[in-house]
Amino acid sequence: MRQTLVAGNWKLNGSQESIKTLVSGILAGVGDTGNNQVAVCPPFIYIPQVAELVRGSKVALGSQDICDQDAGAFTGEVSGPMLREFGCRYAIVGHSERRALYAEDDEFTARKFAAARNNGLTPILCVGETLDEREQGITEDVVARQLDAVIALEGIAALGEAVIAYEPVWAIGTGKTASPQQAQDVHAFIRGKLAGLDQAVADKVQVLYGGSVKGSNAAELFAMQDIDGGLIGGASLNAEDFLAICKAGG
Ligand code: PGA
Repeated sequence: MRQTLVAGNWKLNGSQESIKTLVSGILAGVGDTGNNQVAVCPPFIYIPQVAELVRGSKVALGSQDICDQDAGAFTGEVSGPMLREFGCRYAIVGHSERRALYAEDDEFTARKFAAARNNGLTPILCVGETLDEREQGITEDVVARQLDAVIALEGIAALGEAVIAYEPVWAIGTGKTASPQQAQDVHAFIRGKLAGLDQAVADKVQVLYGGSVKGSNAAELFAMQDIDGGLIGGASLNAEDFLAICKAGG
């Protein structure tokens, strides 16, 4: 039985003060989230602050991105060894905002996935189609291509030690959520594709849904057979909203 994981992606939001409030609110209620796993992914600069705040709690720490290199002349980057040093467990790779706004392609994302694994971090690999791609009927092709780049570089077994987040780009930050069935269809496609290569990996990997998840729709999404939790943007910035999602499913 796969556990439910709810990960908050704070994106480019927060201040030392607001983060203190947010994390203390999460810590106050996280005891009621049962067996569900909970993680938060602050902006890099706040990772040390959050690491201190969540120490000893069930809230795991993740980064929103990772450099594909471990060290060297790469101005502006943050590497896997640095993230490990500050207690990160997860690293998001290939978020659609990285892909679309910073031109990160499938191969580059695969290298970031490898960098995370090589440093003992669990990659949260984001995949998903744009509205245009959905309307063209090529959702599965896009998701398969995004997965194949990682499988080509790292092998299928690596996905068994990762998390996948299916995030339809048209549902991110738009208030438009994929219906539970729409999401389930793509999740089932992802798991079926992996099963064709390695059944054990397919059975094990957590596949999260992301895109306008809220307290009011989380339970019906997480109840779907192949949805193992969520990657949460906007609703992860408020402790009460985030906790409502963390308690859903399971
Ligand atoms: P959203 O973002 O919940 O604000 O739609 C999800 C994400 O980008 O991970």
